[in-house]
Amino acid sequence: MYTGLQHLHSYLAYLVLAGVVISVIVALAGWFGNKPFTDKDRKLGLLGLIPAHLQWVIGLILYFVSPLGIDSATGGFMKDSVSRLYVLEHPLMMIIAVVLITIGYSKAKRMVGTGNGFKSIAIFYGIALVLILIRIPWISWPSN
Ligand code: HEM
Ligand code: HEM
Repeated sequence: MYTGLQHLHSYLAYLVLAGVVISVIVALAGWFGNKPFTDKDRKLGLLGLIPAHLQWVIGLILYFVSPLGIDSATGGFMKDSVSRLYVLEHPLMMIIAVVLITIGYSKAKRMVGTGNGFKSIAIFYGIALVLILIRIPWISWPSN
C-alpha cells in the first residue's frame, strides 16, 4: 500500500501544479481583461481545487504509512533538515496551501454573475502556488 500511495502522491503532484497554474493564468487574464465572472469560469477554478483536495487526503494517509512521515518524528528530527521537511514543513505548508485554495474557490463561487471571482482565485491560488513550490521535496521529485 505504501508504494502505491507514494506513486499516486508523486503523479498527482503534476496534476496539482498544472491545475493550479492554469487556474491562476485564466483568473489573471479574466481579472485584467475586466471580463464578467461566469459559471464556466468557476468551473475552471475546479481544475486547481479538485487535484489539490485529492492530494491532501492522499498526503494525509501517506503521512501515517511512509517511513518519512510520522515514523521519522523521533528525537532530534528538527535538527535534520530532510526529516524536518517531510515531518513538518511539507505537510504543514501544503495544508495551508489547500486551505487557501479552498477559501479562494469558495469566495469566487459566491461571486458568479455578480463580482470579481477572478481576483479571488488569482490571489488565493497564487499565494498557494508559491507555498507549494517552496515546500515540494525537490530532493526526491520529480526523479521518482
Ligand atoms: C498540494 C498538496 C501537496 C503536494 C503538491 C505534494 C507533493 C509532494 C511531492 C511532489 C512529494 C515527493 C514525492 C516523491 O518523492 O516521489 C511528496 C511527498 C510526501 N508528501 Fe506531499 N504533497 C502535498 C500534500 C501533502 C500533505 C497534506 C501531506 C501530509 C499531511 C503530505 C505528505 C507527504 C509525505 C509523508 C511525503 C513523503 C512520501 C515518501 O516518499 O515516503 N503531502 N509530496
Ligand atoms: C477525495 C477527496 C476530495 C475531493 C475529490 C474533493 C472535491 C471537492 C470539490 C469538487 C469541491 C467543490 C464543490 C463545489 O463546487 O461547491 C470541494 C469543496 C470543498 N471541500 Fe473538498 N474534496 C475532497 C476532500 C475534502 C476534505 C477531506 C475536506 C475537509 C476536511 C474538504 C473540504 C472542502 C470544503 C470546505 C469545500 C467547500 C468549498 C465551497 O465553499 O464551495 N474536501 N471539494
